[in-house]
Amino acid sequence: MVNLHYLLEKAYQTNDLTKEEITDLLENITHEEREVLFNNALKTKQVYYGNKVYLRGLVEFSNICRQDCLYCGIRASNTKVKRYRLTPQEILDCCDQGYQLGYRTFVLQSGEDLWYTEGILVALLHAIKRRYPEVAITLSIGERGVETYQSLIAAGADRFLMRHETASKELYEKLHPTMRFDNRRACLTALKNLGYQVGAGFMVGLPGQTFADLADDLRYLKELRPDMIGIGPFIPHSETPLGAEKGGTLEDALVMVALARLLIPDSLIPATTALGTLHPQGRELALKVGANVVMPIITPTSVRKQYELYENKICVDDHPEDCRFCIERRIQSAGFEVDLGRGDSQQFISRGIDIELPD
Ligand code: 5AD
Repeated sequence: MVNLHYLLEKAYQTNDLTKEEITDLLENITHEEREVLFNNALKTKQVYYGNKVYLRGLVEFSNICRQDCLYCGIRASNTKVKRYRLTPQEILDCCDQGYQLGYRTFVLQSGEDLWYTEGILVALLHAIKRRYPEVAITLSIGERGVETYQSLIAAGADRFLMRHETASKELYEKLHPTMRFDNRRACLTALKNLGYQVGAGFMVGLPGQTFADLADDLRYLKELRPDMIGIGPFIPHSETPLGAEKGGTLEDALVMVALARLLIPDSLIPATTALGTLHPQGRELALKVGANVVMPIITPTSVRKQYELYENKICVDDHPEDCRFCIERRIQSAGFEVDLGRGDSQQFISRGIDIELPD
């Protein structure tokens, strides 16, 4: 007999569970124990981050992608999606608008679009940092070479988001016919070693994913110790090979958010847009079980619909200012406070920054 009470207490007190323990917990957890888990995750978040929720302005700057991930609406093989690419000037305009709205972190996300060469990205980073030296810039542009990652951090990038998607090598390679599991991991390790604040993460409820796979996701994150952890339910998109599959559930995704908070307590965890898509209060619920970041969209409304990774994505008809204030209301109604600062991770802060002081 699995002693769930013991496992929950161990997770809360030691921030550690073995793969077998996580698998047992996921297989056997019931409604009542889920509430205990959620409460403990919230308490842990409060200890490390207090009542604050950090906002990041998200610019989805291109939906052109050279990869062909089976689940993703902007995969290269989807000929139904109208493709767009914002110019560097348009991206800067988004940042200007975001800055006016109070954001001090910009997340620049796109498909894997090599039109944005290292040179173009370096110039863009310089331009943003020249205008707004105090902001943090997060890139989410997928796999590039280590030299490029090096040039981008030297040009002012602070953070990099790249989910590991799933820790099962077999499942990863089925879902990503154009990508290699080992390369994904090598990229994440390289980003970390270069000094980026790194965000990894995974989807919940992928076709064929087991509880043991989800336990591996958490164990991998515990080893990598990323600064940020993005977790969202898989949501099928009809123009993909997985269009007829079942998606992940809100409950399962929330359990994984809560466990991530307990096992990697000093990380930043976004309440993802995918959670908000699954349930009208999905993001608020995530904040109540340990998430502490929200990434409102500042992409121009004219192209938002085209950045459709999964169906029925929320906010596609809204304007940047709508999202800014809608999110603030939601955070406050859930009982938390908005923080518009850079919102560095506790882990990053305690790593310290090597600054050479002048004599
Ligand atoms: N359902 C849920 N999440 C998705 N992503 C891509 N496609 C889907 C989908 N169909 C997630 C991936 C990617 C992130 C930007 O969006 O995890 O890393």
